[in-house]
This record gives sequence, C-alpha cells and structure tokens, in this order.
Amino acid sequence: DWVMKDHIAEAVEAIRAQVGDEEVILGLSGGVDSSVAAALIHRAIGDQLTCVFVDHGLLRLNEGDMVMDMFEGKLHAKVIRVDASELFLSKLAGVSEPEQKRKIIGGLFVDVFKAEAAKLKAAGGGHKGATFLAQGTIYPDVIESGGAKSKKAVTIKSHHNVGGLPEQLGLKLLEPLRDLFKDEVRELGVALDLPREMVYRHPFPGPGLGVRILGEVKKEYADLLRRADAVFIEELRACIDPATGKSWYDLTSQAFTVFLPVKSVGVMGDGRTYDYVVALRAVQTSDFMTADWAELPYSLLKKVSGRIINEVRGINRVTYDVSSKPPATIEWE
Ligand code: XMP
Repeated sequence: DWVMKDHIAEAVEAIRAQVGDEEVILGLSGGVDSSVAAALIHRAIGDQLTCVFVDHGLLRLNEGDMVMDMFEGKLHAKVIRVDASELFLSKLAGVSEPEQKRKIIGGLFVDVFKAEAAKLKAAGGGHKGATFLAQGTIYPDVIESGGAKSKKAVTIKSHHNVGGLPEQLGLKLLEPLRDLFKDEVRELGVALDLPREMVYRHPFPGPGLGVRILGEVKKEYADLLRRADAVFIEELRACIDPATGKSWYDLTSQAFTVFLPVKSVGVMGDGRTYDYVVALRAVQTSDFMTADWAELPYSLLKKVSGRIINEVRGINRVTYDVSSKPPATIEWE
C-alpha cells in the first residue's frame, strides 16, 4: 500500500542521512523486530550493514538455516553466523536455577557479540569498522524501559536483552523502528518482501529453548524438544478453525513445547518405556501481561500428542498446560 511505500522511502532516506558512509552492525536473532530492522537497513545501505547472528544452540528446528537462507540467500545481506552452541552448553552445564540460566545466556550473548564486533574491526585493515549498532527496538520497548522500572519492585524474570551494548562497544545507536508499534513493524516487514510466515511469527524469548528446558540444559534435551515443538507448530499451522477460517497458529498469541526432565512409564508394542514428558503451551493474549490458555480443539491435541510420541523416540507422554497468567507465567522459567 501507498502509506507503507512512503514510509519505507522516508525511513530509507533517514537511515542514509544518519549513517552517511559509515558502517553498521546488527544482532540478528531471527525474531520479527531484528529481521524487519535488518531488511530495512539493508534496503537503505546495502553492504554497509553487517548482521551478526549468534546461534546459541537453543534455537528451534532448522531456525539457523532459515535465517541464513533468508538474509544471505534471498536478501544478499552480509551475515556472519557464529556457532556458539558448544560455548553456551558448556557454561550452562550443571546450572538449573532459572535466573542463573538467564544471566549466563544473556552475558555470553553479549560477550560473543562483542568479540565478533572486535574481529570485524580488526579485519577491516586500515578501515575503522562499524561505528553504528543497529537494534530492532520498537515503540513499546521504548516506553517499557522508560517507565516501568520504578513501578516494579520484584523482578519476575530478568529479560535477555542487549541494552547497554552500544556504550560498551562505543557505538552510536541506529533504531529505525523506534516509533512503530508491533503491527506496524509487521506491515513494514511484508512491504519489504519478508515472508508473511516470518513476519507473523509468535514471539520467541531471547534465551530461547534455555527457558523451555526446565532445570539443567543438555543437548540431548534440546534435540528432543526441537523435534517435538516442530510437530506442534506444524499441526497448529495446518489446523484451520472453520468458524474463522484462520489456523490455530494464527488464533494463538504464542504456542510452544516445554521439556520436563522427568521420566514416566509407558507401553509401546509389548515393551515397557521409561521416557521423558513434554508439556504443550498455547495462550491467547493482547499484551502478554495477562494471558489465557487457549482452548485448542481436542482433535488437534490428540493428533499432536500421537505424532510426538510416535515420532520422537525418548518422549512417551504429552501434557497440556491449562494455567493462565497470572498466576502462571507464559514461559515456564
Ligand atoms: P512470561 O513468561 O513472563 O513472558 O509470561 C511474557 C512474554 O515475554 C517473553 N519473554 C522474553 N522475551 N527475552 C525476550 O525477548 C526474554 O528473556 C524473555 N522471557 C520471556 C515470553 O516469551 C512471552 O512472550
């Protein structure tokens, strides 16, 4: 539409004016905001943008490849993929307390990003390297970090974010989505030719599967969880609600699978199994501050549980989380 085209043209001009002939780095996560920011900035300044994609090993099935296919393959943006999964897993070994896990993941993320930024600078030869750090900060983030702090006496969960990075790196900030609400960011993404599927994805927390594997994080658990979650998401997308014509993926605000490091007894063929349990979580919310568990059709739950137990050896029981927020939170950790 025209309004969006105008907005893109204006934003592109503003980015060019701000950046000039300098270089920009951006932390790409695969989430909606950083993806749309990357696509917009790339449209404006092309190869003056370098995206750094830190793979912490706690992403969803094939997510890393999908991000690379999109940004490097289709948009031809410069993307550095850093496979830091072994580093993250080794530092998380033996740690089961949720806040401690969040702090480790957030801290490592900053370390890895800083190291990449330094490498880029060194590789530049006489060239001064990036002088701007781009972030996909959107308007609700701006308000939240301005006002909410004083009101909140207790930290429920320390959010993974890269606030403070620009100062630490000595970089100027480039935040082209600062004035936009989430739905505007999505429209902008579509207008920039990002696939609808990517732009309308449910939110995914920065610490990734790290907060969806209860207690200690292990590679074995992450691999099982990735496969189970892929089944759940695939079936949510495939199941169309006749009343609205929408898929249950689009009818929920967030849906995912949680790995419980608990074993229960089952029976398969004429054998006994003693395997892990997963919980399916699906919620509907307008602001993520409160949320209702989604009344998914039983037929959908039945199909998902049947497929997970049959296809993911190592999981023999599937449960559905019927807790709303409050008092439960959306993520389990
Ligand atoms: P809770 O679990 O607190 O989650 O009800 C509310 C929303 O926040 C997301 N979430 C995060 N997002 N970094 C993020 O970017 C984080 O560390 C983080 N922790 C939770 C959660 O997925 C839900 O959408």
